[in-house]
Amino acid sequence: MFSLQNKKAVVTGGGSGIGMAISALFAKQGAEVHIIELTEESAKMAVDEIKADGGKVFSHACNVANHQEVLATFEKIGNINILVNNAGIAHVGKVDTTPEADFDRIMNVNVKGVYNCLHAAIPQFRLSNGGVIVNMASIAAWVGIPDRFAYSTAKGAVMAMTLSVAKDYIGENIRCNSISPARVHTPFVDGFISKNYAGKEAEMFEKLSQSQPIGRMGKPDEIAALALFLCSDESGFVTGCDYPIDGGFIKLNN
Ligand SMILES: NC(=O)c1ccc[n+]([C@@H]2O[C@H](COP(=O)([O-])OP(=O)(O)OC[C@H]3O[C@@H](n4cnc5c(N)ncnc54)[C@H](O)[C@@H]3O)[C@@H](O)[C@H]2O)c1
Repeated sequence: MFSLQNKKAVVTGGGSGIGMAISALFAKQGAEVHIIELTEESAKMAVDEIKADGGKVFSHACNVANHQEVLATFEKIGNINILVNNAGIAHVGKVDTTPEADFDRIMNVNVKGVYNCLHAAIPQFRLSNGGVIVNMASIAAWVGIPDRFAYSTAKGAVMAMTLSVAKDYIGENIRCNSISPARVHTPFVDGFISKNYAGKEAEMFEKLSQSQPIGRMGKPDEIAALALFLCSDESGFVTGCDYPIDGGFIKLNN
């Protein structure tokens, strides 16, 4: 079960955290993995690890927010079977404390980046007679997380794009779903704790762990396992859905 033998998979932001775990697991299951990262350097750790494990992996330096770069990269990769739109950046702020430049930056990467990759991927899926897409949303799209205005806005758009694409391409054998993790322990979390809560890192880490009723953060491998299911033939009947993976965050938190 869950074989990705003979599948070509693109994972954006595959050089770190959740994307790295997805890239490694997909390669292990037999996929040829193409990591899209800001630089070759930011993909290197994942590429080295996958190669050392005997996996097939390529990296492409490309900013998902740049339309032309994304088009050229997908054309170079060619016909694909799987796309995981995972690249994303964090932001802390309420609407009145979010400067316009920050809002634009979050929209450019977390929303336009997903649009760019979907737009570039559809012709390549057609060459493969269909395929499957997983978009990385967040529980921020489901509930109001305090102080995450721009980020929540962007992830709400990711969920809506998922539905739109699932509907528009259902007749072309393309499935599209999204995953909504609660807090997962990755460099993304460590980075925004050290940037926004300097001097109170340990306290903040514990607070963020306890915000999941299960009492801890998720692990990148746990998100990768759900992504594998959604991208495998075993989930062939699943499309147009968002899957929370959240240690009880949405339903058990009160
Ligand atoms: N970690 C969490 O708690 C959490 C929770 C819910 C959702 N998510 C989402 O999961 C995804 C991955 O998060 P993570 O925690 O693994 O993050 P991460 O920061 O560890 O990794 C993200 C990767 O994306 C790459 N990237 C960023 N901007 C890019 C761009 N413009 N073009 C190409 N690559 C780019 C980065 O270089 C990095 O390697 C994000 O979309 C995030 O919003 C994370």
